[in-house]
Amino acid sequence: MTFAAKYGPWALVAGASDGVGAAFATGLAERGVSVVLLARRQAMLDQVAAEIENRTAVQTRTVAVDLAAPDAAARVAEATSDLEIGFLVYCAGADPNYEPFLDNPIQAAEAMVQRNCMVPMQLCHHFAPAMVERGSGGIVIFGSGAGLAGGPNMVAYGATKAFDMVFAEALWAELHDKGVDVLGLILGKTNTPALRELEFSRGTIGSPDEVPEGAAAVDDIIAEAFDNLANGPTLMAGDVMKAAAQFMTSLTRKQAVEMFAQAAAAAMGPDR
Ligand SMILES: NC(=O)c1ccc[n+]([C@@H]2O[C@H](COP(=O)([O-])OP(=O)(O)OC[C@H]3O[C@@H](n4cnc5c(N)ncnc54)[C@H](OP(=O)(O)O)[C@@H]3O)[C@@H](O)[C@H]2O)c1
Repeated sequence: MTFAAKYGPWALVAGASDGVGAAFATGLAERGVSVVLLARRQAMLDQVAAEIENRTAVQTRTVAVDLAAPDAAARVAEATSDLEIGFLVYCAGADPNYEPFLDNPIQAAEAMVQRNCMVPMQLCHHFAPAMVERGSGGIVIFGSGAGLAGGPNMVAYGATKAFDMVFAEALWAELHDKGVDVLGLILGKTNTPALRELEFSRGTIGSPDEVPEGAAAVDDIIAEAFDNLANGPTLMAGDVMKAAAQFMTSLTRKQAVEMFAQAAAAAMGPDR
């Protein structure tokens, strides 16, 4: 079976306006799958769509939705109701702030849970039945090394990413023998526009175009993901993330949390 026959005719990529999501959407298009590109910034989505249509023969559709909004999943379902979605990528989900839990109103954490937990769960429940019925399809949910233990400045974020990883693993357990490939794609530091913006705002890089130290390249992460779509449930993406995940298995939970706390202190500098 060709890639497009197994995972097409359409894919939905949530968080497709830049970085790893845009690269994932482009990779799907290059393999013959038409793509629904979803994020908040319409102009950026239009740009990604134009690039895909220039380079490939597939169709694109853009959907500008804030995935933290309470009606997000319903809006996505409505915007795709006429399409056969064989592949779902849930990429949106970084934390642009990296701040202590109590520094922000509870609504910030609630929005994080909505975008990173509620909506991907609702979209999987919406799109997976048709995949199961036809016996083929794929789901990729982005996780983070931040979900492997609790750490300061990522209280809600890390917890949502732990949810995402376990959710993907459990869904894999239910669906992989029904022809649906589920993969929890766990990223370490990766050179995306969102990461560069965060590091620039914290003064750890001198310009928003500088590559943060130790960050994996987007193209490498996406290539590894495509090579491992059928090797779920969980992929620690890139050598650094693999080594970190392996090392953490040798620690107690307390040691892991202390390690994250030390890393946070080093990242925030002596004034915070
Ligand atoms: N970069 C890293 O170092 C790193 C490390 C570990 C894990 N990850 C994971 O990798 C994924 C991608 O991260 P990233 O660095 O590319 O940053 P990101 O902020 O998740 O951005 C990725 C995409 O998500 C969209 N997005 C963000 N919030 C959204 C919302 N509320 N509604 C709709 N779309 C939204 C963004 O577009 P718009 O702004 O146009 O909405 C963008 O297209 C995330 O799940 C993150 O947890 C990244």
